[in-house]
Order: sequence, then structure tokens, then C-alpha cells
Amino acid sequence: MKVLMINGSPRENGNIATAFKEMIQVFEKEGIEVIHYQIGKKDIRGCIACETCRNNGKCVFDDIVNEMAVKFEEADGLVIGSPVYYGSANGTLMSALQRLFYSTHFDKSYKVGASVVSARRSGCTATFDELNKFFTLSNMPVATSQYWNNIYGWEPGEGKVDDEGCQVMRVLARNMIFLMRSIEAGKKNIGLPETEERVWTNFTR
Ligand SMILES: Cc1cc2nc3c(=O)[nH]c(=O)nc-3n(C[C@H](O)[C@H](O)[C@H](O)COP(=O)(O)O)c2cc1C
Repeated sequence: MKVLMINGSPRENGNIATAFKEMIQVFEKEGIEVIHYQIGKKDIRGCIACETCRNNGKCVFDDIVNEMAVKFEEADGLVIGSPVYYGSANGTLMSALQRLFYSTHFDKSYKVGASVVSARRSGCTATFDELNKFFTLSNMPVATSQYWNNIYGWEPGEGKVDDEGCQVMRVLARNMIFLMRSIEAGKKNIGLPETEERVWTNFTR
């Protein structure tokens, strides 16, 4: 099984990197392949609503977003991590995720999603909710842990002393693996739920 991990932070050894390391140790122990991107220093522009992707299923800006899209399609799970910037996910990550989810048409159903957030002090839960929204409109079950998936720190790597945050990440990784494996078993033994032709209205019409 494969997991794609996208770290939105610009800091290589930052607190999201610390959280991801805790998760990666678990993934590797369990034989889960990890494809990792850290995008915070990349020049990733936002969506311009050109709708080119409607016809070709990829973004008109042929950058790392299209590269990650190929990996996302192959993956069984997606972990996204963001530092809190002004009570929100960081801008580069949001530009990437909005383009990634909007431009790709492959079926994301039953790929497992998980969000991870880091902050000095405040804004974690709002950011966590923001990130989970990408999953919850894509038929992607969300893996959870024993607490919300936050790690605290200011300087890069300070998250290492957040023992509870580090444990939350390890538990999250184990729960994510269990969910991915359960879904794989469920597809074989129970089958996928019935689907309907998509209804698409702009508010009510
Ligand atoms: C532009 C900017 C805005 C920030 N805004 C917040 C904030 O709203 N709340 C907070 O607690 N920390 C804030 N921080 C601190 C970071 O969220 C914190 O240092 C985080 O652990 C960084 O994660 P990283 O090391 O993975 O980049 C901000 C940092 C920057 C650079």
C-alpha cells in the first residue's frame, strides 16, 4: 500500500516534518510505501478558474501539482500537513491543494485522508477543519487519532518535546493503516456501496 504525504511547510526540519517523521516510522515498520513532498518553498500559484482541467483532467500550470496528482492517483492514502499561518493553513499548501483536487478527475473514493497541523499557540482546530474539507467532499474517509492531530512548537523541531502531539501522530498512522487495510478487505469481501449518477446543482438549481 502507498501513502502520499504533502508537507506544506517551508521549513525542512520544522514541526510538521517532526510530526511526519513520527508517522513515517510507523508506515515503514508496517511496510507502507511513503511518497513524500515538501512544497513550502516552491513557487506554486493559485487556481485561476480557467477550467482547462475540465477537458484534460490536469492543471494548465504544469508544475509540481500535476506531478503530485499522478502520485495521488496511485496512493491508498493522503496525509496533508500544514503550519498554522494566521489561523489558517499556509498559502502555498492551499494553492496546491485547491488546484490538485479541482483539476484531477480520477476517483478519490475510499482513499484514506489525514490532516496534521502545527502551531506556536493557536489556530490548530480551524486549520484542521479546513484541511479535512478536501477529504470530506471527495468520498475520502478521514483517519483520526486519540486527539486532534496537532503538534506544538515555534522553532523548527520544537515539536519533538510535545510528547502528546508525537504520540497522536503515531496513533494516527496506525489508525490510517488499519483503515486502508480494512477498506481493501471490505472491497473484496463486502463490495463498494451502490453509486448514483451525480446530481450537480449550483445551490438549488
Ligand atoms: C506567517 C506565519 C504566521 C503564523 N501564524 C500563526 C498563528 O496564527 N498561530 C500560531 O499559533 N502560530 C503561528 N505561526 C507559527 C507556526 O505555526 C509554528 O511555528 C509552526 O510550528 C510552524 O510549523 P513548521 O515548523 O512545520 O513550519 C505562524 C508562523 C508564520 C511564519
